Amino acid sequence: MLGISAQSGFSLLIALWILKVSTAELQHRFDIELPETVKQLLTYTRNFVEFCSYQALNMVSRNPDYLSDPEFRRLMYDMMLAWEAPCVETEPENKESPSYINEELEDEDGSSLFHFSSTNLAVQVDDKKTIGPEAFARIAPACPVVADVIIVHNLFDALTSSSSHRLHFLIFDKYLRSLDKVVKVAKNALGLSISNLQLDEGEITLDVDGAVPTQPVLQHVGMSAWPGRLTLTNYALYFGSLGMGSYDKAVRYDLATDLKQVIKPELTGPLGARLFDKAVMYNSSSVEEPVYFEFPEFKGNSRRDYWLDICLEILRAHRFIRKNNFNKIQQSEVLARAVLGIFRYRAIREAFHTCSSQYKTLLAFNLAESLPKGDIILETLSSRLALLSVGGAQHDMTESLHTKQKLKLSPVAILTLGQLGFNSQKESNLGAGVEVVGDICVGETNLLEIAVKKSISDTGRVEAAQATVNQVKVEGIDTNLAVMKVDFR
Ligand SMILES: *[C@@H]1O[C@H](CO)[C@@H](O)[C@H](O)[C@H]1NC(C)=O
Repeated sequence: MLGISAQSGFSLLIALWILKVSTAELQHRFDIELPETVKQLLTYTRNFVEFCSYQALNMVSRNPDYLSDPEFRRLMYDMMLAWEAPCVETEPENKESPSYINEELEDEDGSSLFHFSSTNLAVQVDDKKTIGPEAFARIAPACPVVADVIIVHNLFDALTSSSSHRLHFLIFDKYLRSLDKVVKVAKNALGLSISNLQLDEGEITLDVDGAVPTQPVLQHVGMSAWPGRLTLTNYALYFGSLGMGSYDKAVRYDLATDLKQVIKPELTGPLGARLFDKAVMYNSSSVEEPVYFEFPEFKGNSRRDYWLDICLEILRAHRFIRKNNFNKIQQSEVLARAVLGIFRYRAIREAFHTCSSQYKTLLAFNLAESLPKGDIILETLSSRLALLSVGGAQHDMTESLHTKQKLKLSPVAILTLGQLGFNSQKESNLGAGVEVVGDICVGETNLLEIAVKKSISDTGRVEAAQATVNQVKVEGIDTNLAVMKVDFR
């Protein structure tokens, strides 16, 4: 039998209950479906925790409202705890026996996803327990809205910056609740013609700023400035100026087609003066002169920095698409990845009121662009996208799921958006009867994660070299001062 700890046991029972199979059957499936390499003595239990967790998360995320379910959030966290301490040997004494779960498991007809009450759960929750980066990186990307393998370590850093690199349940829970809110806001905007926008099919509103008339976005063109509302979608920026108490028809600034777009931070001020570092410049061959969007705020420029980041992410995702001549499904998958990334970034920003300069980027295409060896990430992503299969892997027990994972990948980001309720007509039948084979496989490091690690370690050397140069300069000043002192004597 498996040497499973109480913590893992707890998660496994829930996982089994969701999957509606016995431990023996699940273990049998694990034994026949997965290669010997992941079933070595030392890693067997941890990989079995991964196997059960991935299957259970896959199942749970078919419910469109899973992010709102407190027990889903708890389950995911427990899976990470279980991953950290999968074996009896590594687990300190756990006095609470999860025996009541067994009773509840037998009761089959409840409406909730999980039967036990949250008060019962609270007994199980040990708030002193926290999660480290590896457990987070192994479990979170199995639910693609929660994390992407490319930025999963940066996301962990952002979530743990104030808790000495350990993730607490309350922070994780707050992040997921915020993510749920962001997704709902975006979903509500889908059918509406807000800001007098005429959105295309499949166009998703990612964020809106300036909707409160007291905090508008200012659009500068030449000498004139006008307050209004700025909207970013996965294809374009829209600015609707505030006329007599209402918004005029919005002007569209394209981010998708190749119009030699340039987006960068800029200075603006009244009457064309360059005073405040709070603007984003948009230039392209389709505008007569560059347009500046100013994001006034009392202190700092984090509002601008955020908008700069998310606009660049969309622009870069489209560039990546054009450069690789992707087909329709691959294009949608790339954009869906960018969309999910922006949802996550927005969720972190809104939940923790942090600004982007406090952590490394949470946006995959921005990350690839900012690292000197970021090309490796994009090349790896591109070769993975080449393996996309439209139908995904069918749920078929006779063939090894693991073998299929090697040959075919599902468009996980598209399917995830679909599960969350962003289905466009074309893509709505993609997910039917499909077992999502995600970015992450039991016991294996994703190639994308390896590519990110490689480009970061190369960057580390660049930064180290830079630091040495800076130090030399400082020492140079000191030396000069010393020389001056000598002269004055
Ligand atoms: C704006 O873009 C156009 C077209 O690429 C270019 O000709 C023009 O010089 C650019 N203007 C500025 C100020 O960058």
